[in-house]
Amino acid sequence: MSQHVPVVTIDGPSGTGKGTIAQLVAKHLGWHLLDSGALYRIVAIGIADLNIFHNEVNKICDFAASMKVEFSTEFEGSISLNGKEISHAVRLEETAEKASQVAALGPLREVLLERQRKFCQPPGLVADGRDMGTVVFPSADLKIYLTASPEERAQRRYKQLINKGVGVNLRALLQDIASRDERDANRQVSPLRPAQDAVVIDTTALTIEQVLESVLAQVSLALPETSK
Ligand code: C5P
Repeated sequence: MSQHVPVVTIDGPSGTGKGTIAQLVAKHLGWHLLDSGALYRIVAIGIADLNIFHNEVNKICDFAASMKVEFSTEFEGSISLNGKEISHAVRLEETAEKASQVAALGPLREVLLERQRKFCQPPGLVADGRDMGTVVFPSADLKIYLTASPEERAQRRYKQLINKGVGVNLRALLQDIASRDERDANRQVSPLRPAQDAVVIDTTALTIEQVLESVLAQVSLALPETSK
């Protein structure tokens, strides 16, 4: 019998602190981390480099099936695509926008499914994304869904980008976030929504430390063996 590998999924729209929380929880537990959004971002970068258009679905799928991706273990560390370092490009807002467009393609999501599931290795996995609890790991041991008001999310993203030296306009960011949310929530395949059995945490008025505390409390309830 194969060993049960515990999985905690952390889903929600951008700017909820998902990425940071997923990384902190993975570190706390000593588990692997899957940043699934990065995979969609990487596909968007790769196909742009090859001048593949968004309606060339077969070409996009072939690319995604054969791409070689490497993540360094530290948070937001280096990412390489077919041997080329692309971590800066991965974090750009324009990449997020293109990622959200390719992410609406059902056949591409299908291609990325197995690649994402391969991250599930002992001693456990924290998976961050939009459909981790609903589609990729439907039998996860714990499903968290983080939300926050669009204004708060835009503010957080603004601060994050400014700290990284990326110039952005807050109002434009709010509009971009709203249009991406709309596309992610209304697409036909794997739309952004909490799994029925997800624990929903509204992070609007919470600090990262408070969100982390509340997620770790849920982890201890769902997986008591992790707090021994
Ligand atoms: O989480 P991140 O901002 O990196 O995701 C970028 C885009 O990738 C999202 O706007 C969404 O459209 C897509 N995505 C997705 N499913 C996931 C993760 C990300 O559709 N599991």
